[in-house]
Amino acid sequence: MPDFALPPEAALGIERKWWHTATVYQIYPRSFRDSNGDGIGDLPGIIDRLDYLQALGVAVIWLSPIYASPMDDNGYDISDYQAIAPEFGTLADFDRLVAQARQRGMGIILDLVVNHTSDEHPWFTQARRSKDNAYRDFYVWRPPAPDGGPPNDLTSSFGGPAWTFDSTTQEYYLHLFSRRQPDLNWENPRVRDEIYRMMNWWLDRGIAGFRMDVIDLIGKKVDEGITADGPHLHDYLQEMNRRTFGSRDILTVGEAWSATPGSALLYSGRDRKELSMVFQFEHVTQGWDEVHGKWRPKPIDLVKLKSVLGKWQHALAEDGWNSLFWGNHDLPRAVSRYGDASGYHVESAKMLATVLHLMKGTPFIYQGEEIGMTNVPFARIEQYRDVETLNMHRLHVEAGLSPEEFLRGANQSGRDNARTPMQWSTAPHGGFTTGSPWIEVNPNYPTLNAENQVNDERSIWSHYRKLIALRKEHAVVVYGTFQSWFDQHPEVFVYTRTLDHQQLLVVANFVPREVALTLPGELQLSGHCLISNYSPPHELGEELHLRPYEAFALLCAPPA
Ligand code: GLC
Ligand code: CA
Repeated sequence: MPDFALPPEAALGIERKWWHTATVYQIYPRSFRDSNGDGIGDLPGIIDRLDYLQALGVAVIWLSPIYASPMDDNGYDISDYQAIAPEFGTLADFDRLVAQARQRGMGIILDLVVNHTSDEHPWFTQARRSKDNAYRDFYVWRPPAPDGGPPNDLTSSFGGPAWTFDSTTQEYYLHLFSRRQPDLNWENPRVRDEIYRMMNWWLDRGIAGFRMDVIDLIGKKVDEGITADGPHLHDYLQEMNRRTFGSRDILTVGEAWSATPGSALLYSGRDRKELSMVFQFEHVTQGWDEVHGKWRPKPIDLVKLKSVLGKWQHALAEDGWNSLFWGNHDLPRAVSRYGDASGYHVESAKMLATVLHLMKGTPFIYQGEEIGMTNVPFARIEQYRDVETLNMHRLHVEAGLSPEEFLRGANQSGRDNARTPMQWSTAPHGGFTTGSPWIEVNPNYPTLNAENQVNDERSIWSHYRKLIALRKEHAVVVYGTFQSWFDQHPEVFVYTRTLDHQQLLVVANFVPREVALTLPGELQLSGHCLISNYSPPHELGEELHLRPYEAFALLCAPPA
C-alpha cells in the first residue's frame, strides 16, 4: 500500500530530489566480478551483475576509480582521467555499462579523484622536469628547509612526511597520500579549467553524478599548515558547480573527513549551489583510539554512537542532506565492526541495515554488505595488498611494535577487510574469478555468498531489498522528522520518524542478549510492522522483550 502521496514541497521545507528516494550501491571494481579470468574484477563483470543490482532495487551505482592508473592505491592514483584502465576494460565497455544500467533504471556515478593525480600523469612527468616547465605549477613544490629537510612537518595519511624530494629540480613536492599521489595545486586556474573540462566530458557520456574523493582538501594552504577545509574550498566548489554539473540533475557526494554539521550545511545547503551531500565520518572516528587511531579501535559505545548519528539527523533536518553509511572500501566490514560476525551474524547484519536505512538521508551500501560479508582473518602481512596497511606496517614495526600486534589492528581496521572479492557462490574463489584473484577471497565464502541468499526470503540480502523498497513506498522514511528516545540507554537504539499523520517507530537491540524495555506512553504501538529481523515479529505491548540484536519498524496510525 504505497503512501507516496507526498505533502507539498512547502510543507517539507525542501525541494524534492530524485536522490532523496534512491539507495546507492558502491562497487570496488577490482573486487566485484572478474569476467576474463585474470583475477581482477572488470567492467564486463559489472555489466554481468546488473540484474543482481536491479533485483536488489538500488537506483545508483558508484564505481570506485576505473581510470588508467599504475594502481599504487588501486586507482585512486590516476594517470589519465579520460581513459579506462586496461585491466578494467575499454571506453566502449563503459558506455555499454551506462546504457545497460539506464535500461534497468539505474545511474552510474564516478569517483572524481582531483585532489591529486598519479606521479605517472603526464602533468606530473612534465612538472618534475624543470622549474620553468609549463606544468610545474600544476603541483605544489617548495624548496627544502634550511637543513635540507622537508619544507614543513605536514604528514601523509599513509604515514611519513607529506613531502618527497625530487632530485632533478632539488625541490620537494606535496603528497597528502602516497609519494606516488602528488597533490594538484588548485590555486592554479589552469588546473581547475582542465578538471572542469574533464568532468563535462564524463557528464556528456550520461553519468548520474560524482563521488568526490577527499574533496575537503582541495582548498589547502600548505604554508599555513592548513590541509582540510581551507579558505577557498567553497569558492572552488561553487565554481565547479557553475561550470560543470550545476545545470544537470545529478547526484554529487563529497568525501569530507573534516566535515562538521556547520560545514555540511555549506556543502549541501539548498541555496549554496555546491553538492547534494557529503560523507561525514564522525560516527566512524568517535570509535577510534586517541593515540593509535583506527589501528586500535575502541569497543562500540552505543550512547556515543547514537548521539553522533542523532546530532547529524538534527543538524541537517531543515537544510542540507545526509548521506547514510556504515562501510566503504576504506572501512572495516559493518557487521564485524558494529554487529556480531559470528554468533548473531544474520540478526545483527539485518539490525544494522534497519537502523541505517530508516534514518533520514541517502543510504549507501558497500558491495557485499547486503550479504553480510565480514572482515578477513589474514594472519600474515604478505596476504595484504593495501598501500596504507603495508606502509603503516613498516613504520609501526620500525617503531618497535610487534608484527603480531600490528596484524591485530589490521585485522580489525585494515582497508583490505573491505576489498576481498565479492562472494557470489560456493564455486572456487567464491565465483569471483576462474583464475587466481589479486587478493585472497575470505575463507567463509562456502557458507556466506550471494547465491545462498537471493532466493531466500529470510536472508540478509532479502532484508536489504525490503528496506530499499520501503524508502520508495513510504514518504515518512524519506522526509519524516527524526527524534530519538532512550538516549542514555547503552543497549538499544529507538527512534521515530514523523510526517503529517504518520509515525514510524524503529526499535533496535545492539547486544547479543535479551533486553527488556518499557516504552513511554507517547510511543503508542498500534501500527503495523513494516520490517523485522525475527519471525514471527515482535509481540507488541507496553513492555518489550527484545531478542538478541532484534530490530523492527512499525508504521503507526494517527494518535486517537
Ligand atoms: C580517499 C579514498 C581512499 C584513497 C584516498 C586517496 O580517502 O576513499 O581509498 O586512498 O582518498 O585518494
Ligand atoms: Ca578481469
